[in-house]
Amino acid sequence: MALQGKGGEVTAGGVAAARAPSSTANLGPGYDVFGLALDAFHDTVTIEHVPGGREGRVTMSEPGRGMPAAVGRNTAGLTVKRMAEVFGSAGGELRVRVEKGVPAGCGMGSSAASAAAAAVALNKLLKLGLGPSELVRFAGEGEAASAGAPHYDNVAASILGGFVIVRSARPLEAVRIDAPRGLHAVVAIPNIPVPKAKTAASRGAVPRRVPLAGCTDNLAAAAMLVAAMMRGDADAAGRAASGDAIVEPAREHMIPGYREVKAAAIDAGATGATISGAGPSVVAFATSLAKRNAAGRAMRGEFAAAGVASRAVRCKPCGGATTVLNPKGMAR
Ligand code: HSE
Repeated sequence: MALQGKGGEVTAGGVAAARAPSSTANLGPGYDVFGLALDAFHDTVTIEHVPGGREGRVTMSEPGRGMPAAVGRNTAGLTVKRMAEVFGSAGGELRVRVEKGVPAGCGMGSSAASAAAAAVALNKLLKLGLGPSELVRFAGEGEAASAGAPHYDNVAASILGGFVIVRSARPLEAVRIDAPRGLHAVVAIPNIPVPKAKTAASRGAVPRRVPLAGCTDNLAAAAMLVAAMMRGDADAAGRAASGDAIVEPAREHMIPGYREVKAAAIDAGATGATISGAGPSVVAFATSLAKRNAAGRAMRGEFAAAGVASRAVRCKPCGGATTVLNPKGMAR
């Protein structure tokens, strides 16, 4: 049976799925503006159209390990709900399953990866034909289920891939730049307890007013970072990502041994290091695999010196969310 969706004919009982990567947000000076997709981990979201269900109804078949089961508190569920409020659900219920690969609460865009995959999967299922900026906007609203308020840097990276710049004004604009081929990353994830609403708490630490000198420093570093990405200069990109005069100083107390961890990464050959998103992970950049690996070992060593166990996840920039071929429906 075929039903009319907003963008074309939708197969009743159809299934679509998408896979979205982890990401690191801010990259130092670009708070809520810069993001970089990283191939370390992925989330997969499957959405099934259940004929006969109530129009606009969204249910969670599987919320993802450790994730909230309530639709409105699950970033994939809320993304689908918001989109269904606007576009309808083609005369049926939308059932959502989340398979988590991105670890939650460590600053690698876990909630964003689920929201991004959900937006891309529903776009395919309902044949909505939405463009990247619209998908980023819906996924950002869905991510508010976890972060407390929408922010678009992680979801833009997970959807578009590469290095992204987001302007959250209306209309929202998101631009992708291919990251330099020689840019390698390592994320040191400390094993420390984080508050339940970690991102909201970490956002609360960011100052509301900042001195002009801090703005000038961050603007310079942000402009250098964009120039480095556009010129394919992996070395300059890493250095610019180290230059955050506003958010890093306000958050570093949340990460045991942060200054030493960052300094150790750079001493070991990284071109730069900074807090990954809202933390507590630390991301370091390098221009060779050997230096990247040495930076990972050095960061783990400094976390250990601060009494914290950690793991170093080696990764590289990657493409954005992709739809899954022949996804399986959910057992009724
Ligand atoms: N830009 C956001 C923040 C990213 O730093 O709070 C959260 O993952």
